[in-house]
Amino acid sequence: MAGQIPQRFIDDLLARVDVVEVVGERVKLKKAGRNYSGLCPFHQEKSPSFTVSADKQFYHCFGCGAHGNALRFLMEYDKLRFPEAVEQLAGRLGLEVPREGADDPRAQARERKRKAGVNLLELSASYFRERLKMPEAQGARAYLEGRGLAPEVIDTFAIGYASAGWEHLKRHLGERGIGEAVQVEYGLLVQREESGRTYDRFRDRVMFPIRDIKGRTIGFGGRVLGDAKPKYLNSPETPVFHKGRELYGLYEARQADHRLERVVIVEGYMDVVALAQFGIRNAVATLGTATTEEHLSRLFRLVNEVVFCFDGDRAGRQAARRALETVLPLMIDGRQARFLFLPEGEDPDTLVRREGAEAFQDRITCASPLSEFLFDQAAAGRDLARLEERERYASQVLKAIGRLPEGVLRSLMLSELSRRTGVEAANFSALLAKAEGAPGAGAPSGVGQQNREAGRPREAPPGPGEARGAATGRTGALGLAARALQLLVHEPALVEGLPEEDDWCPEEDPDGALCREVIRLLRAGGYRSPQVLLAHFHGTPEGERLAALARRELLIPRTARRAELEGLVGHFRRHRRRRSPQEEIDALLARERAGERLSREEKQRLMALITELHR
Ligand code: UTP
Ligand code: MN
Repeated sequence: MAGQIPQRFIDDLLARVDVVEVVGERVKLKKAGRNYSGLCPFHQEKSPSFTVSADKQFYHCFGCGAHGNALRFLMEYDKLRFPEAVEQLAGRLGLEVPREGADDPRAQARERKRKAGVNLLELSASYFRERLKMPEAQGARAYLEGRGLAPEVIDTFAIGYASAGWEHLKRHLGERGIGEAVQVEYGLLVQREESGRTYDRFRDRVMFPIRDIKGRTIGFGGRVLGDAKPKYLNSPETPVFHKGRELYGLYEARQADHRLERVVIVEGYMDVVALAQFGIRNAVATLGTATTEEHLSRLFRLVNEVVFCFDGDRAGRQAARRALETVLPLMIDGRQARFLFLPEGEDPDTLVRREGAEAFQDRITCASPLSEFLFDQAAAGRDLARLEERERYASQVLKAIGRLPEGVLRSLMLSELSRRTGVEAANFSALLAKAEGAPGAGAPSGVGQQNREAGRPREAPPGPGEARGAATGRTGALGLAARALQLLVHEPALVEGLPEEDDWCPEEDPDGALCREVIRLLRAGGYRSPQVLLAHFHGTPEGERLAALARRELLIPRTARRAELEGLVGHFRRHRRRRSPQEEIDALLARERAGERLSREEKQRLMALITELHR
């Protein structure tokens, strides 16, 4: 393992690079006063709201809230992990990145080997490409043409040809001083066990280089020109190539569009390439394996939406069920997964050629959302008019919901299940908690929240904030923020009357912060039921807090609730502590970073504040 990068080095690095230069290499910038401005690379826009400040060494987008220093920019734009971004910046300055405690010779040897391997694979890739132009590759060229591949796409995907014969590549690499052992290690040569003799793994095949996210060749897939078996031969596992991790076409998709938002996962090399030729340039393929969690978590670092594409036959359905299982735990809020089934006997390659890009694109657009697929899946083959079947249906869906991370999707799925089965969502939450082995899980499921809480040791009232302390006492009066929260928990629909800006929520008070969170959630989820709200927070300290507030009676008539909440908002606004410009900037930026959208006024305010500070 590489050691930690010393903070001093990072600070030094940031002091030496210029964010304007780093951004300017990737985004067209114009000087505007003391700053630079341009079109934001992180969202679609027509007029520039993206500024880069040379003085402050940061960038900021007033449109989408993207914000940070040079390292952050590289991480976001080039989708690098932190250490990779540091490497990249250091590389510009010709600096080695020091690692704490890693004068470890073994780590160094590993890194040297990785570099050597990549070089060797790169050499092979260009060799295969050269070969495709030679007379001996006539059959291969005819094959590719027969499959309708245009020269441009052959070029984009760096497709090549491995000649027939046993030692072409071996000799080519040997002449460049590359030993046989390393060629074997990186999967280019096969070594016979008995004799120890080595020969080219790929012979008389069309070669698809598999590249990592930075475009470095890490392996190959080779296809026979006819119907011989095996149809495809892939690189074996090597120090740089792991089938369960890599996706064919991902680099090319990112090259085609840096703002990639959605990726379509298909089965084969040819599918990726054919779709690209038809202008659908966001397809990737697993390499003859099922989609793994690692594939998906890598993808979700780059995009928010994944569309799984399957054959319509039984095997395809089976694969889809597996993919669903794999993706469930990764579905945090903001991510989407959808399922697309093709007509039987078609794959994306044949289909896009037959019906064209637009029709295929429509299929992608109409692919089933995860929720729909999940419900359909559970309902398949069941007669839901029958009680027992409905029970089994519910438990199957519930099991899947149990694998979802906490969040809006999970809450929505619960309320949808409740809508579809006519069972109250609170009961499902209880069942879920039981399945997850929560304490007090023995409570009868019908009784819900209260009972289970009773079985749990009561948490000591947390922290400062007297409002919270008071609220825990049975008879104590509530703090004002707590009261606002209580009104919202009892009657979530009150959120509709609240001002769009929630800057009135007193931030110093944990109840105020929770209040803001609840408002955001209610707005985002569009649901208006206390049960869903409680289900969302279930199992967290906030959940306990909300449940406690839900149990306390409001003690005022329904008609007076809205007026009381408005009164509270007014009160908070009048008594808001005045903040310094810097504090205000920080608060606004923090909200943006947390994924909130600022209103127009707030954006203007932020712009004004920043300009003010710069003067
Ligand atoms: P398919 O058999 O569906 O092939 O395999 P395809 O992509 O449609 O290929 P064409 O159109 O006949 O050329 C799907 C994927 O499974 C892996 C490959 O990654 C292939 O792209 N596979 C298939 C293998 O690894 N080995 C094989 O022998 C066959
Ligand atoms: Mn095919």
